[in-house]
Amino acid sequence: MQILDGKKTSEDIKKEIAVEVQEIKANGGKVPHLAAVIVGTNGASLTYVGSKVRSCEQIGFESTLVSLPEDITEEALLAKINELNTDDNLDGFIVQLPLPKHIDEEKILLAINPEKDVDGFHPTNFGRMALEMETFLPATPYGIMELLERYKVETSGKHTVVIGRSHIVGRPMSILLSRKGYPGDSTVTLVHSRTKNIEEFTKMADIIVTALGVPEFLKGDMVKDGVVIIDVGITRVDDASNPKGYVIKGDVDFASVSPKSSFITPVPGGVGPMTIAMLLKNTLLARKIRAR
Ligand code: GUN
Repeated sequence: MQILDGKKTSEDIKKEIAVEVQEIKANGGKVPHLAAVIVGTNGASLTYVGSKVRSCEQIGFESTLVSLPEDITEEALLAKINELNTDDNLDGFIVQLPLPKHIDEEKILLAINPEKDVDGFHPTNFGRMALEMETFLPATPYGIMELLERYKVETSGKHTVVIGRSHIVGRPMSILLSRKGYPGDSTVTLVHSRTKNIEEFTKMADIIVTALGVPEFLKGDMVKDGVVIIDVGITRVDDASNPKGYVIKGDVDFASVSPKSSFITPVPGGVGPMTIAMLLKNTLLARKIRAR
């Protein structure tokens, strides 16, 4: 069993990007500039956005944090997005999800200029992904593809079962793994909350990507020997014995599944850290495209 170490791999990627930033600087170019928009004070969102901004500083990107109040109107948020769309000094930006209930998320995502959509959530970029064109891939699925590639995990002709059909993980993951070329060429089954007998599918899978958000859902008796496990779950579970008052749990019962697996991502330290690294990679790509 080999651990797919997302913490180390993400650090490697950040170092590679930092080298490119130094080269850009040495050639008198402009360094990439990422902005992150956060609405309200959701604890997990603040943590994620905080690490996105810190990572930018770490690798020499410019970054801007746009903090907006929870009760901002949809109209005011759209105005802010329009400002970022047209800010020539900015290469890319993200609007951290989820948004407060009074704001129509779809309307916001549609308003983002696809050329600055480094999250890859705009329908234009999602379509480009499906059509195998150059684009910004959604960061979490992109990070998983990168982990599979760097650890040389075979995907061609393998049966991959993706659990969960969210717009930001499960659905794009199912598309990427079925695309032509490595690390794709996989036969993909997408299972979800309406699937009957999920374990019938997981037992057949060579590769399982779980993005369900149910702590320790996948047990050892639901997988076959030699399976590759990618755990995207990050659920906060109350734990009074922990100083933070919670622990982070994945979708996979690591104790029973890991002995049967050939490769497995830990939680934390697996997919999570890769997400930020790939967002930075997308921002670097946005800068390069703008410099063409
Ligand atoms: N919320 C959870 N994951 C993400 C992400 O990758 N991007 C944004 N913008 N919001 C998120």
